Formats: sequence, structure tokens, C-alpha cells
Amino acid sequence: MKENPIIYYGGDYNPEQWDEQTMEEDMRLFEEAGITIVTLNVFSWALLQPSEDTYDFTTLDRIVDTVTKHGLSICMATSTAAHPAWMARKYPDILRTEFNGMKRKYGSRHNSCPNSPNFRRLSRNLAGALAEHYKDQKNIVAWHISNEYGGACYCENCERAFRIWLKEKYKTLDALNKAWGTNFWSHTFYDWDEIVAPNLLSEHIDETTTDFQGISLDYARFNSDSILQNCVDERDAIREVLPDAAVTTNMMYYFKDLDYQKWAKELDFTSWDSYPRYYTKPASVALWHDVMRSLRHGQPFWLMEQTPSVTNWQPVNRIRRPGEMRLWSYQAVAHGADSVMFFQMRRSAAASEKYHGAVIDHVGTNQTRVFREVKALGGELQKLGNQTTGARTPAKVAILFDWNNWWAVEYSSGPNDRLRYTEEVHRYYEALFEQNVSVDLVDVYADLSAYQLVIAPTLYMVKPGVDEALKTFVKNGGELIVSFFSGIVDENDHVTLGGYPGKLRDLLGIWVEEIDAVPEEAPNAFTYQGETYPATLLCDLLHAETAEVHATYRDDFYSGMPAITCNHYGKGKAWYVATASDHAFYQQFLKDRIEECSIAPVLDTPKGVEAALRESEKGTFLFLLNHNKTEETVLLPHGGLDLLTDCSYAPQSSLTLPAKGVAILKK
Ligand code: GLA
Ligand code: ZN
Repeated sequence: MKENPIIYYGGDYNPEQWDEQTMEEDMRLFEEAGITIVTLNVFSWALLQPSEDTYDFTTLDRIVDTVTKHGLSICMATSTAAHPAWMARKYPDILRTEFNGMKRKYGSRHNSCPNSPNFRRLSRNLAGALAEHYKDQKNIVAWHISNEYGGACYCENCERAFRIWLKEKYKTLDALNKAWGTNFWSHTFYDWDEIVAPNLLSEHIDETTTDFQGISLDYARFNSDSILQNCVDERDAIREVLPDAAVTTNMMYYFKDLDYQKWAKELDFTSWDSYPRYYTKPASVALWHDVMRSLRHGQPFWLMEQTPSVTNWQPVNRIRRPGEMRLWSYQAVAHGADSVMFFQMRRSAAASEKYHGAVIDHVGTNQTRVFREVKALGGELQKLGNQTTGARTPAKVAILFDWNNWWAVEYSSGPNDRLRYTEEVHRYYEALFEQNVSVDLVDVYADLSAYQLVIAPTLYMVKPGVDEALKTFVKNGGELIVSFFSGIVDENDHVTLGGYPGKLRDLLGIWVEEIDAVPEEAPNAFTYQGETYPATLLCDLLHAETAEVHATYRDDFYSGMPAITCNHYGKGKAWYVATASDHAFYQQFLKDRIEECSIAPVLDTPKGVEAALRESEKGTFLFLLNHNKTEETVLLPHGGLDLLTDCSYAPQSSLTLPAKGVAILKK
């Protein structure tokens, strides 16, 4: 995929909701705001295809012509995220069956059964027809397949497809019965057709409580694969016509349904839609930017959507305060985004998103606070040009992040319902984020050789070969941190027998004998480097075999048992943190590890001021982001030129950022 020539600036544009005159006015306002790209055709299937035998590109042609005439680039969507009503009537199999077994009628969006042969045929054909129709349209710089894929279907087509998927995976029923452990609760399957979709009608009590983890886990994989196949169908239809098309689909925040690591391999670049709540911590959005960047090994991603002002779908839709949109936009860029895009360009007048913010509001003019902020940012991005595009984030720390593990940890019946995989990841990430340490969030099979510190929070599921990879990493001098409830099961959610943490036992030099769930109101505690911290959620009761003990539990019958251990292994060290603790602990513990590994934080900044780095042959760019409501002063040991203000800073000088302020220093 080619590097973006600029930081694309624009977003979802739906002029099919407007008349021609409005579109002309939009063009004028876009130019004023420095808009350079529009995402077209996200939800136009019903307009494009009034009946099975007719495609009608008239409206879209008119839109494409207008935006082209005005020099805009196009991100062309395929419109398949909401099917037309006639299609649902003609082919009811395209309608999904919900988790509770309810067969849907026509309505809403993101509503197609991924395994419906009719949906697959019609969506693929549409994507192909669009590619054919617009194959000479030179300003289409990206193809946007569907929109925010997700959810699941439990219909009979899906059930049949699931059986085929299982046959391909296990070959024999015997192997499947073994993998799922079906001798438990008399579940032995003698015929593939006895297998039904795991939902509320069968194995489940609710979305995450299943009576049979093996089948639920495989269904999660199957569902992600099924929907991915829809995306691949469309991608291939486009590529048949346009072999060099840059294809993406817009992903979502902390989205569990789809194994994005598997998905990203099928895309040319990743993109995602960021909608932080008013109370969302900057660290938590940064984490997801880093996931998105890491999906394709550090390749820049697109911020495909964010609101310029307000959403309509949260319980409390607080408007973004002055400066916040700009700050969050630059945070995306700081973490690897090469676009800043909005949902949407003009606010709808009807239906469910009419109170969702847009660049152009219902008043229709440039006389709004939001327009002025969008325009100001547009001016800055124009000034930045292509300086930061293509630049990479140099990270020496990796956190392992795995969708299969996410599913398995949260399907697990016991030991503590409050255990959330992403929270465990977040604890470690946030402490690094606050110390301005660059982090990649990589899959368990990633090449770890470039990292000095690898963190595996709650690596409950150890997939084949992962233990070996971690051993090699540590043996060669790397430092590893593993946290509680790790090494418990294999890829089928089968316990690795012979003592926890299973295949990680000799690497960590410990044996976990019991696991105690800690009630919220009665935490245990441990002392690390002279400070006492709470031990919450789970406490692994472990014996150090070859590991050194760095902290022990304070209370209860297991007082004195290890809470933190470190095992010397080859040239490296493998730490085990046997419980969850508070923020102060992670800050101290990770500060010590960072120092020990001689990893240099990007910069020392006041609390609430984020520093992130991107590098390329065009330069080294230091992003400073003040998330505070107060002005902050940052000392710049190396100085640099602020690309936003053209102020030059000498080494050892200091820079004052206003509340919510941003600086981008080029070294
Ligand atoms: C999502 C969708 C958009 C729109 C926005 C509103 O990101 O992709 O179509 O509904 O949410 O926030
Ligand atoms: Zn289905």
C-alpha cells in the first residue's frame, strides 16, 4: 500500500440525502475547511439496486462527479452494510437470527446473515459492479468494504456452515468430541447434524456464560471467519477489476466479536472508528490506536470516523469541548494515523442520526463553533502536508493481545466473573502510557526479537508454539512479564495438566497450586519495594520452584506465599505477577522494569501530558498532547521545531502547552 500523500481529512458524506444545491454549498464549505477526502456510498444499496436486475448509478455518479470536480479524493464504500427491503422480502435467508433465537424481519442495518448464499452473491456482485463502474475514477484512493462489521447470526444456514467449518477443522467427529471434551454432561456427538449453534436456545445462559466452552469458542471463531469471508468476497470482486485497489473496512473500539488480527491480514490497511465517551481515558483510546497500528506490523492506519462534536447513541451525549476534537485527532496521528476523518460531513435531517454531530450543522453555514474548529484543524493539517505520513512508532515494549484468549477467558466458568481480559491488558498499558513508553500490541505469534520487554497479561490460553516463542525470547535476553491465570488451557480450552501455568511452568519457575477469587470488599495485599499494594480479583497461590520471590501475600492462610516472582532463564528474566493490583503498583513495577531494560521513555512530562514519537526518513516527530484542563510546561532536552506554530526550541528550553494543547516537534 502506497503512503498517503497527505493526512487525509474529511469523512462520511451522504449527499444522497440532499438536493443538488446543498451539495454545491457543501463543496464551498469543504474547501473552506481544508477537506481533502470524502467517504461515499456507505449506505446506498437500495438506491444503487432498486431491483435484482437493475443497477442504477445515477445518483452516485452525480456525487462522484461533483466531488471530483472539486478536487476531493474518494474513499469508496461498497454499501453492503444494510440490505434493501426488497431483498429481505425476496430472500428471507439474508435476515439474521439473533442470539436469543429470534428471526429478524427487515429493518435496521448491519443485519445480513454472513452465510446466506443470496447475501454473499448479491454483495459480491455489487462490489464488483461498483469497481467496474468506477474503475477509471482516479481519485478513488481507498475502498471501504461494508461498514463496522460485527454481531453474529444463529440461523439454519449458519448452523449448516458451522458444521462444514468444524468438519474442515477436526476432520473426524472423534477429534471434535475430544477437543470439546464431550464426555462431560453426556454431550457426545455421533452425527455432525446433531451439532447446533451455541446460543440462548442451546448452551448459553447469556452472551458470555456458556455451559460448553469448546463449542462456544469455536462458534466465536467461526462467526468471525464467516463475516471475514463476506469482506474477502467483496475485496476479491474489487480486485478482479482493480488489482491495485487499497482495501479496508472500518473496525471498532475494543471490539470482541471479530478477530481483527486475522482480519487485518486480508486488508491493505487498517482503519477504525473512534468514539470515546466524555469520561474515556486518553490511555484507553491510545491503547486501541496501538492495537490498530500493530495489526499490520506498524503500518500507519486511518482514523476513519470520529465525531467532530457529539454522538447521538450514547446514554448521555455530551458535546466535545473546544479543543477536544483537535486533541483527539492529533492523538490518533501521534499513534500512527495517516488520516483524520469524521462521521459525518453534513448532519442528517431525518432518521436516527439527525442529532449526531457533523462538520456542517442543521443551520447549514460556516458560523458554528464546530465548523470553525474543523476548519482550523484543516488549515494545520494542510500545513503539515506529508511530513508525518508513513512514519513509524519505534517501540521496545510489546503487550501480547489475543482475541481467542479474550473469548476463552470470558467464557470461562469461574474463577471470577469480574475478570475482563481487556482490563488486565489496560492495567499494564496505562502505566506505560503514563510514562510515555511506546508500546506495540501484538498477536501471540508476532516476531518478538525487536522488543526488550514483552508483557502477557492473563495469557490463559497458550496456543501451540507460543510457549516456545516466549522461551526463545527470554533465553536470548528479553524480559517477560506474565500475570495471573496464565498458561491454564490449550487452544481448545483444555486444561494443560501437570500443574499451572502449564507450558509456562519452567519458564516462569513456579507452580500455581490454587486460585483464590478475591471479593471486591476484601482484598488481600502484598508489599513490593517497601510499599504495600492491594491484591484483588484473583490471587494465584503459588510455589516458587526456580524463581526468586519479590513479594508475598500479607493476609489469610496463604500469607507469606509469593505474589511476585522472577525467574532467570537463559540470558533473560521471566516475571510473574500472581494477582491484580492498583494503578500505583503497575506504575512502580513497570517503571522498575523499564529502567532495568534500559528502555528510554519518549519524554518526561507532567502528569496528563502525553508524549509520543513517530519516525521516518522525513524526520523524527515528537507529539506533545496536553489532556489536562490546565496549561502545562514541558522541558525539551533536545529542542526542536514546532510544526504547528513554527516556533523553534533550543535544547533544554521549555514549551508551554495551553489546556488541551498540542505541539509537534521535529527534531
Ligand atoms: C458508526 C457508523 C456510522 C455512524 C456512526 C455514528 O461509526 O459507522 O455509520 O452510525 O457510528 O457515531
Ligand atoms: Zn445466519
